[in-house]
Amino acid sequence: METPKTHILVCASFRPSGEAKGKCHRKNSLEFLPYIENEIIDRGMEDVVVSSTCCLKMCDEGPVMVIYPDNIWYGRVETEAAIDDILDSLEDGRIVEEYRL
Ligand code: FES
Repeated sequence: METPKTHILVCASFRPSGEAKGKCHRKNSLEFLPYIENEIIDRGMEDVVVSSTCCLKMCDEGPVMVIYPDNIWYGRVETEAAIDDILDSLEDGRIVEEYRL
């Protein structure tokens, strides 16, 4: 595999101790990871990877997701429909203003 073109970071609220504490975790952000992973595969987005992260320090906006290298931050990503919109936007080369921070 080549290095990915796009990296989706999903806040899992991890603290330095490894404990998950925070709004993203409480709002089920970790449950989105397999959905995103499966959507990436189903859509053939071979140059996109997804990872979970420590707290991204935007807790009040959680669940928070960041798209790199474009540095696009999304918040209140609470449904599969929201994730679908964001993945659609990656394919179309646009930004979903509804969730943008
Ligand atoms: S817990 Fe997600 S930004 Fe802090």
